[in-house]
Amino acid sequence: MYFLNFIQQPKILKMKILAFAGSSSNQSINKRFAIYTGNLFEDKQLEILDLNDYELPLFSVDKEEEIGKPAIARTFLDKIDWADVLVLSVAEHNAGLTVAFKNIYDWASRQRVKVFDNKPMLLLSTSPGKGGGKNAVEAAQIIFKRYGGNVRATFSLPSFNDNFDIEAGKISNKEHDDALKDIIRNFDYGKEPS
Ligand SMILES: Cc1cc2nc3c(=O)[nH]c(=O)nc-3n(C[C@H](O)[C@H](O)[C@H](O)COP(=O)(O)O)c2cc1C
Repeated sequence: MYFLNFIQQPKILKMKILAFAGSSSNQSINKRFAIYTGNLFEDKQLEILDLNDYELPLFSVDKEEEIGKPAIARTFLDKIDWADVLVLSVAEHNAGLTVAFKNIYDWASRQRVKVFDNKPMLLLSTSPGKGGGKNAVEAAQIIFKRYGGNVRATFSLPSFNDNFDIEAGKISNKEHDDALKDIIRNFDYGKEPS
C-alpha cells in the first residue's frame, strides 16, 4: 500500500535557489543578507555559493592566454545552470562592484557571454551606510543587461548594523522586512527578461 502511494504521488519539484554575495569578505554582510533572503522563498532547495571558492588571478587577456579557460569559472556557470532563481546581494566598494565579484564575472563571461543565462534574479545589496549599497545595484543592472541578467526585482537594505540582527540571521526592522517579503511574494519567475 505504501509502495502504491509512493508511485502515485506526483513529484513536487522544488524551486532551486542559488544565493550568493558579490563579495569575498569572510564576514560578508551581503552573504548573510542573501542567505536570509534565499530562505524566505517557500518550497525551495537552497544552495549558498561563496565567492572565495571561485578565486582566480585578476583577469587580463594576457593571463587568459597563459591559463586558458579556468575550470573554476566553468563551475561557477554550472551553479548558475543548476538554479531556477538567483538571489545575489552585491557589496558596494567605492560606489561600484567589488573586484572579487567583477573578476569571476569577467572570467565566466569568456566561457559564456550570457553569464546569468536569463535566470530570474532578485538583486540585492546592503551596506553599513544609509544608501545600503544602491550604487552597486545600479552598476550591476547596467552591466548584467547584456550578459544574460534577468533582474526581476531589486532591494537594498540600508544601515545594515541597525536593521539586521546578525545573531538571529534576520532583518530586525519590520518595515524593511515586510517590504522584502512583499517582493518575494510577488516575485515574477519568468525566464525571459522583462
Ligand atoms: C574599499 C571599500 C570601499 C567601500 N565603499 C563603499 C561605498 O561606496 N558605499 C558603501 O555604502 N559602503 C562602502 N564600503 C563599506 C562596505 O559597504 C562594507 O565594507 C560592507 O561590509 C561590504 O559588504 P560585504 O561585507 O558583503 O563585503 C566600502 C568598503 C571598502 C573596504
